[in-house]
Amino acid sequence: MTSTSNQRSPYQSQFYSDPIYSAVSANFANKVLNWFDTEGRHNLPWQQNPTPYRVWISEIMLQQTQVATVIPYYHRFMDRFASVESLATANIDQVLHLWTGLGYYARARNLHQAAIGIVEDYQGVFPTTVEELESLPGIGKSTAGAIAALAMNIRASILDGNVKRVLSRVFAIDGWPEQAETKNRLWEIAERLTPAERVAEYTQAMMDLGATLCTPANPVCDRCPFNSDCKAYQQDCIANYPGKKPRKALPVKFVTMFILQNEAGEVLLEKRPPQGIWGSLYSLPESQSETELPQLNHVQVSTENVSKLNPLRHSFSHYHLDISPVRFSARRIRDAVAEKDRWLWYPLDHSIEVGLAAPVKKLLSQLSHNQ
Ligand code: ADE
Repeated sequence: MTSTSNQRSPYQSQFYSDPIYSAVSANFANKVLNWFDTEGRHNLPWQQNPTPYRVWISEIMLQQTQVATVIPYYHRFMDRFASVESLATANIDQVLHLWTGLGYYARARNLHQAAIGIVEDYQGVFPTTVEELESLPGIGKSTAGAIAALAMNIRASILDGNVKRVLSRVFAIDGWPEQAETKNRLWEIAERLTPAERVAEYTQAMMDLGATLCTPANPVCDRCPFNSDCKAYQQDCIANYPGKKPRKALPVKFVTMFILQNEAGEVLLEKRPPQGIWGSLYSLPESQSETELPQLNHVQVSTENVSKLNPLRHSFSHYHLDISPVRFSARRIRDAVAEKDRWLWYPLDHSIEVGLAAPVKKLLSQLSHNQ
């Protein structure tokens, strides 16, 4: 394993020779494995037959998403795309359809691209080094480590949100874990602690410890195998770890979304460009102005019975988007000519399989309930 930090500060070498660090780290893997044997999770769907493909899909779905939310998506995905070949040959719309509601759609686009890469460049066989895994779209260092460790039992480390929290508390590592210096320290500790044996179980154990005991709020320290070692617990300052992100207020942007509904109740959707927010997903036609409808020469819009729906906010990591939905009656005059697939009359029973932008899905559900 290579370290991400090239320079060791005097503080860091002091840290590793600290007798408390040495004592805790010597026994770390055994303790977490003993705890895992009786208290860890052993029945998650991706733990059954943990092939690289199955583990990869689960790890991507589990990024930023809770296990309970992921499970039904995971089953549907595996039923539809049982192998990397079936995913590679799928249409991206089918993949995005199965992802609708999970959010962070770049994950689905990257999965599809990576599947194509694995089939084309590796004859459909997953690469077996962290470096090669990391070179695939959407697979970062921690996810590459998780796939290698969980599916191939290779001694590789992970540093996902759970592990960052556990290590920053046990060793009282100051600083926001996304900040480079703090992250490098955490990686170095994670790599030193990773055992040579039972690495798959150790990896799952660390995730489980973070997800079930060492939780962001109300951690269950009295049941934690590290409660007599954990610096943050011993110093009664768990809430200070991991360090918080320096806050700055997010900007707010505004958009009007037009719900153009025809006599059959279908709503006009527009496929978004592949780059940018909701890339390649279907969304409602939009404009910066409430009164300025986009120019559509294939649709006739009636200005009678216009209704404004309740505004809604969709928050991205870097801004809030305040959406004002306005509904019009409309009529299809002719098929749109240019750009195949760009326009879609979408039936509210969701019987067409396409990926929808999250707030659009919400708006369309409201509409179908109110009909
Ligand atoms: N979060 C990320 N990977 C996970 C896994 N394998 N099991 C449970 N939660 C996870």
